[in-house]
Amino acid sequence: MLAELTVLAPGGVEEVASDGYVEYAIYGAEGELPDLGEEEAVIAGGTVEVEATEVADDWADRWRTFHKPLLVGDPEDGPAVWIRPPWEPERADMAEVVVDPGQAFGTGAHPTTRLCIEALIGIAREGGPFGELTDLGCGSGVLAIAAGKLGWKPLDGCDHEVAAVAAARENAAVNGVEVDFERIDLKAGLPVLAPTTVANLTAPLLEIVAAGMSRENLPETLICSGLLATEYDRVIDAFASHGLVETGRGVIGDWGSLTFARSSDQ
Ligand SMILES: C[S@@+](CC[C@H](N)C(=O)[O-])C[C@H]1O[C@@H](n2cnc3c(N)ncnc32)[C@H](O)[C@@H]1O
Repeated sequence: MLAELTVLAPGGVEEVASDGYVEYAIYGAEGELPDLGEEEAVIAGGTVEVEATEVADDWADRWRTFHKPLLVGDPEDGPAVWIRPPWEPERADMAEVVVDPGQAFGTGAHPTTRLCIEALIGIAREGGPFGELTDLGCGSGVLAIAAGKLGWKPLDGCDHEVAAVAAARENAAVNGVEVDFERIDLKAGLPVLAPTTVANLTAPLLEIVAAGMSRENLPETLICSGLLATEYDRVIDAFASHGLVETGRGVIGDWGSLTFARSSDQ
């Protein structure tokens, strides 16, 4: 849905999910958006309501109030990550990631991103292993940057979107974390996978990643997210052929994550 809407309004799309509904808002200057008017329709058993409103003059301030800092993990229990937009005050007592929400996917607020950071925090709390990390489908780079702040190094990441790679590079610089971000289409082939690899993608894309892995290019720890809680089995099956076995899973709402470790006989 977001992908379709982004084509209509590359300037801004928002998704807000709540109990029983999902709201998509697309923004554009006068004349930029299709004139949809007010509509109500039933599509595939769901009610779709469309409305258009004029955005008030103080939209910039309202937009800012929408983007709140996000705490992942409890600092009382060990490492925690604080993700904030640039205008919010810093928290020097935590692994802090500054992300400008005006950029590519990944303000950190999405449940799939949060699930990956929770899994990274879980490993960090056990004292590692740290070392090299790859972020597949890096978006704004938030996962690689958070990993860097938690102790992983060296870091690399990739995305097929030019804008994502540019935003990720900029965010890494703003956060003072060195990450080698590259433009790669995972459907065309995989980069070299670090011992810790994070992949916040979708179940079909995770299956493509699994198909591209080999004995010579296999992470020791793999954190996957972006799957629906109903898709655990297909993702587990996809990585099983490489001897990657599930060591943990997470769930937030409809979204799920899986952590795998390479079995000792691989
Ligand atoms: C769910 S987002 C995750 C972004 C970021 N890692 C995060 O957690 O906030 C998935 C990302 O994968 C990228 N992606 C989708 N298909 C891809 C492909 N075939 N090759 C590389 N990246 C892809 C998208 O552009 C998007 O940035």
